[in-house]
Amino acid sequence: MKKVVLIPGDGIGKEITSSVTTILDKADAQVEWVEKKAGLAAYEEFGNPLPDDVIEAIEKHRVALKGPLTTPVGTGFRSVNVALRQKFHLYSNIRPARTLPNIDSPFRSVDMVIFRENTQGLYIGKEHWVDEAKKTHAESIAVVTEEASKKIITAAFEYARAHERKKVTLVHKANILKFTTGLFLDVGREIAKNYPDIEFEDLIVDNMAMQMVMRPKRIDVVVTTNLFGDILSDLASGLVGGLGVTGAANIGDDAAMFEAVHGSAPDIAGQNKANPLALLFSALMMLEHIDQMKVAENIRKAIYKTLVERKVYCTPDIGGEGTTSTFTQAVCDNI
Ligand code: NAI
Ligand code: MG
Repeated sequence: MKKVVLIPGDGIGKEITSSVTTILDKADAQVEWVEKKAGLAAYEEFGNPLPDDVIEAIEKHRVALKGPLTTPVGTGFRSVNVALRQKFHLYSNIRPARTLPNIDSPFRSVDMVIFRENTQGLYIGKEHWVDEAKKTHAESIAVVTEEASKKIITAAFEYARAHERKKVTLVHKANILKFTTGLFLDVGREIAKNYPDIEFEDLIVDNMAMQMVMRPKRIDVVVTTNLFGDILSDLASGLVGGLGVTGAANIGDDAAMFEAVHGSAPDIAGQNKANPLALLFSALMMLEHIDQMKVAENIRKAIYKTLVERKVYCTPDIGGEGTTSTFTQAVCDNI
């Protein structure tokens, strides 16, 4: 049994995590959940959205599955998602996007995995005003280091090799941002030499955006800096049915956190309408991370079967007529 920290989260969090744990149980996943409260739920109960015992549990067990957390506007508490990524130095953000059977989307046969550097780039928000009145002239600083670039690019190549992928595409803007993304590209070219079995190419980010919608099938594993990754990974989700059907992992050297990419959906919370698929796909990535590949594969097959044969049991956001519960039951029946 592997102990995994479970943070149900806010809004629809309870409903979707309970669906996911039910399905993993049914599939005989060797996981023992260590449940912890964070986010609004923890803020209301303990006055702290990220209590110490959550941090300690992740330090101890090193793997967490996290539902969506509400970041309330105006209370001044920082995003717990960002805090957890920083605290555990989860430098790889990994977002697969794969065409699903019977899910509406203008694109077919998409199967890409995006590795986004999670700690640097323009995304760090290091900004300042140049004019004294702080009204008319702002600047922002992007940070790229050789060390962090090496880590994320190596992670992408290692993933490609482990999953028998054919190609890694590095995305940059080195024609204009010659120092920062130029450094990222140079590091990529060096690392690629260690992986002669995997094809390597680099694309400029604007071209990449077009290629992703014109010829998504040519994209395999992608590695890029933080802000480009933020945008392109949502684009990739859009190619296969949106944020409701794509999972994500945040992985560092000492810990890994798996999460749904959507938020806490307060508009449908408590109504048995929430789609657990995104969190379920994140849970499958978690199972692969802890070497329970077979269980993950069995659940994936049961999900696909449910989408094809029992679509009516799925939730309305993906064209079904069912509820969180009927979907959960249908997947369990197919395991
Ligand atoms: P949201 O993703 O919660 O909701 C956007 C729309 O998508 C809503 O109409 C919602 O009903 C629908 N939706 C989302 N997930 C769904 C699911 N699993 N099944 C069916 N429908 C689903 O985004 P919103 O409304 O901007 O944010 C709400 C709260 O979530 C905010 O407090 C925000 O800070 C937080 N948030 C947390 C994230 C995280 O924990 N990683 C990510 C994004 C937002
Ligand atoms: Mg985003």
